[in-house]
Amino acid sequence: METIKLNNGIEMPAEGLGTFLMEPDDAQAAVESALEQGYRHIDTANYYMNEKAVGRGMRASGVPREEIFLSTKLWPTEYDDADAAIDATLARLGTDYVDMLILHQPICDYIAAWKSMERAYQAGKVRSLGLSNFPQEKIQEVIDAAEIKPQLVTVECHPYFQERELREYLAPYGIVIEAWYPLGHGDKGLLEESVFQELAKKYGKTPAQVILRWHVQMGNSIIPGSTNPAHIADNADIFDFELTDEEMGRIAELDGTKRYYQPSQEKLEAYAAMTADYDAQK
Ligand SMILES: NC(=O)c1ccc[n+]([C@@H]2O[C@H](COP(=O)([O-])OP(=O)(O)OC[C@H]3O[C@@H](n4cnc5c(N)ncnc54)[C@H](OP(=O)(O)O)[C@@H]3O)[C@@H](O)[C@H]2O)c1
Repeated sequence: METIKLNNGIEMPAEGLGTFLMEPDDAQAAVESALEQGYRHIDTANYYMNEKAVGRGMRASGVPREEIFLSTKLWPTEYDDADAAIDATLARLGTDYVDMLILHQPICDYIAAWKSMERAYQAGKVRSLGLSNFPQEKIQEVIDAAEIKPQLVTVECHPYFQERELREYLAPYGIVIEAWYPLGHGDKGLLEESVFQELAKKYGKTPAQVILRWHVQMGNSIIPGSTNPAHIADNADIFDFELTDEEMGRIAELDGTKRYYQPSQEKLEAYAAMTADYDAQK
């Protein structure tokens, strides 16, 4: 497993397991399976309602806590009292610290929440900080207000939506892009693209592995989601081959053709109003 050095010096495994939309029992099993198969990076969120299960999966795997890069996200309804939300998040996960804490959506008082995250960072409860779904102008607003600059920005990113402008903007800050929906949320159309079929044959890999390899060569961190142990294993088996510049160029041509998820301002505001009893999760 390759690692990416964050701009605060911390090494993050380039690939992790995503747990979006996983019911608690499935999340626990997937986390345990991934850790047993060599993964050392797990991504969850308050909003996924599976943090307790992720914590159980980590403990059941027997992998020491300090070997795992654990990432989670605060939901906007938590931003107003983020100090308490961070402590509650750690309690649900059953850990004293997380390796990455991310503001999930660019709404509500995200600057106040960033300040709470900075306090948690200084207190050793959080080792690095990130933003999710923030557009460039709001990333800049956080950077301008921050004592501790972001280490990572996570956004929808895959061969159909490659985020080249954002990548250029983030590069001088050394901020890493983490791709969510790295496999287009499992879209068959993406997996069946002729370029991925052809390269899969050439390298003796699957189309999904070729797509994940493309991400790694773009410098993206990836967190593919899967509850299928065979897919979980395959998705990590991407560090023994390399796409050529010409092949990377062919994949570049797919850029801009599709975005799977584009929340309107209205939807974001509706999101903001949503609350959940995170502690009541299984
Ligand atoms: N920050 C945000 O707002 C945000 C939003 C969305 C997602 N995320 C994060 O990003 C992660 C990834 O997103 P995602 O899980 O929705 O989408 P994804 O990783 O692009 O795709 C997951 C889908 O692909 C399938 N799949 C996985 N590996 C495969 C393989 N080797 N071959 C064929 N199919 C495969 C999975 O099915 P099987 O289970 O059958 O393998 C699942 O249906 C999430 O889990 C979450 O952690 C963050």
